[in-house]
Amino acid sequence: MANLVIVGTQWGDEGKGKIVDLLAEDADFVIRFQGGNNAGHTMVVEGEQIISHLVPSGILQGKTCVIGNGLVVDPAVLLEEIDYLSTKGVDCHPGKIVISERAQVIMPYHKMIDTGREKLKGKNKIGTTGRGIGPAYEDKATRRGIRMVDLIDREVFEEKLNAILPDKNNYLANFLNEETADGDAILDLYQGYAQRLKPYLTDVSVVLANAMRARQQLLFEGAQGTHLDIDHGTYPFVTSSNTVSGNACCGAGVGPKAIDAVVGIVKAYTTRVGAGPFTAELFDDIGDYIQEKGAEFGATTGRRRRCGWLDTVILNNSVRLNGLTGLAITKLDVLGGLKELKICTAYDCQGKTIDTFPSSLKVLGACQPVYETLPGWQEDISAIRRFDDLPANVRNYLKRVEELSGVPVMIISVGPGREQTIVLDNPLT
Ligand code: GDP
Ligand code: IMO
Ligand code: MG
Repeated sequence: MANLVIVGTQWGDEGKGKIVDLLAEDADFVIRFQGGNNAGHTMVVEGEQIISHLVPSGILQGKTCVIGNGLVVDPAVLLEEIDYLSTKGVDCHPGKIVISERAQVIMPYHKMIDTGREKLKGKNKIGTTGRGIGPAYEDKATRRGIRMVDLIDREVFEEKLNAILPDKNNYLANFLNEETADGDAILDLYQGYAQRLKPYLTDVSVVLANAMRARQQLLFEGAQGTHLDIDHGTYPFVTSSNTVSGNACCGAGVGPKAIDAVVGIVKAYTTRVGAGPFTAELFDDIGDYIQEKGAEFGATTGRRRRCGWLDTVILNNSVRLNGLTGLAITKLDVLGGLKELKICTAYDCQGKTIDTFPSSLKVLGACQPVYETLPGWQEDISAIRRFDDLPANVRNYLKRVEELSGVPVMIISVGPGREQTIVLDNPLT
């Protein structure tokens, strides 16, 4: 028996959904532990693409999918997703999907405040997904949030809503110059959600403890990426939760000894959606080539993703922060056709070479990438299924990533499809 955490090592969209869907075959439970529907995780099975925002990416493998206490859940989005998957014949009944009673609920005013604040910030905006994530976590931290267990108790819900709404409406109207939220309308709408969600709610920590006692395997699905972590990322250009592996314990209610392995998903180059520093960003034809070939548009907001070379300063930051025991390299096929490839292995910080990630955005902003150059490959590798069949320069690139990170490459992804994968070592088998 082994329990595995999957995390993104960069700024999100590394291909976590694809790898979780693949590995879920050997898991019993797939568990989201943080974030919300700011995530967009893409699975491609038998040519059909499905993007999930809240339902864990184990659902297509028929595994029990768990939404942990660490999430902020927009009930409308969750129910829409359940309905959509159900029309596709995917079993989404209570029991197949399990939601923590302690997860926080995203309210309409959270979304209104998120978008209102971004509007007010103008060119200094964070570039959030506008899904209300920050404002919902903010209420959690100030102990004014509404949890799933409160949602399904009309009296408690009404009491909490009435207590917070004047404050929110004052802020919306008088600070953000936005419309206000209507309490009665929210009450009606959210009582409808409560009716439907009630059968899904349970104590997730107890469910997972029982699963482990029965020697079932848990696969924890991280959202966002290590450099969007509220503590360890490029603050304030981050999301509002801890995205690192350690939060799998906190956000699902398991102890640290429950975790056996941590696989970091590494896109073979780097992307970022939204604002914030990105040292190895490309502003030339190569950046455009990668963006187009990799179809780098956000799965949640459709925004064009910024593209750059692989950066092992951030990869090694992720290795340490997450305790990575293995890497999954994705989108390797996208790099085909380039004469040369670069890897950013250090930063030149005003004449000083550093290989650790600066905390100060001022310092980081002054850093220039230090590159090493490797030969590229011209072959299309998307149909290759055996490591030994990969062109020598592809193997060379992978070997260099292993050397620079000190972590073995366990999985290689050469296309979006579930089958377009070379698994060298599966931690769940
Ligand atoms: P996530 O948020 O980490 O789950 O990643 P996203 O789903 O937001 O973005 C990854 C995108 O890359 C999706 O469109 C995937 O279908 C696609 N993808 C995943 N792995 C590969 C791969 O190896 N090659 C190619 N070409 N596309 C991939
Ligand atoms: P997945 O799980 C990429 C980014 C936003 C913005 C910042 C804050 O699909 O990898 P938020 O709405 O969370 O307050 O936005 O974080 N962001 C993501 N970028 N992938 C994601 O998720 C992201 N979730 C949030 O673009 O820069
Ligand atoms: Mg994504």
